[in-house]
Amino acid sequence: MPKNPNLTKVNHLVSKQDRTSNKDHRGGIFWLTGLSASGKSTLAMRAEAALQEKGLHAYVLDGDNVRCGLCRDLSFSDEDREENIRRVSEVAALMADAGLIVISAFISPFKLGRENARAVSSAPFHEVYIKADIETCERRDPKGLYKKARAGEIKNFTGIDSPYEVPETPDLVLDTENQDIEQSVQALIEYIESEVLV
Ligand code: ADX
Repeated sequence: MPKNPNLTKVNHLVSKQDRTSNKDHRGGIFWLTGLSASGKSTLAMRAEAALQEKGLHAYVLDGDNVRCGLCRDLSFSDEDREENIRRVSEVAALMADAGLIVISAFISPFKLGRENARAVSSAPFHEVYIKADIETCERRDPKGLYKKARAGEIKNFTGIDSPYEVPETPDLVLDTENQDIEQSVQALIEYIESEVLV
């Protein structure tokens, strides 16, 4: 809702059906959530590429990337993470409304933020939990960030000194702890296709 009373929403003349008929698939949001190094970005990028190959129009919104532009002013405090996810939720909702398959890859540690992301989207929203526990993620540590966090060089690191609220009723769970990346990628692609193909 607008904060300013002098704003009035303008209606589009293009309907959801019009947009779907252009692309042969529906728009939707596939919201990947999980710890750093759980595999979100890898799965998202692999799925995006596979869908592109099949002629479907997908786009990844990725935490590290978005934090280099739209959210470059934000830190990793609870408040700034909330704002990060609020902005991205609105962007994802617009992109999905435009008919795109949005695959988002953000830690998005708070249940409330993820619920809000679902609430602001007029297109179908799917919460996908990328399941890998802190020990597994810390063992992987591809960017060396867990090491830095343990050494006290990074504050507010998710899973160490900042919380992660595990999804209670995700629409899909991809267990990257116990299945290899290929299995998880395939499961994600199949799930997306089953939800967006008309
Ligand atoms: S979120 O909590 O606001 O959703 P987001 O997904 O945008 O986080 O960014 C997470 C990425 O930022 C991680 O993959 C990691 O590369 C980097 N990062 C840097 N500092 C931190 C931190 N303190 N906690 C978690 N991730 C961090």
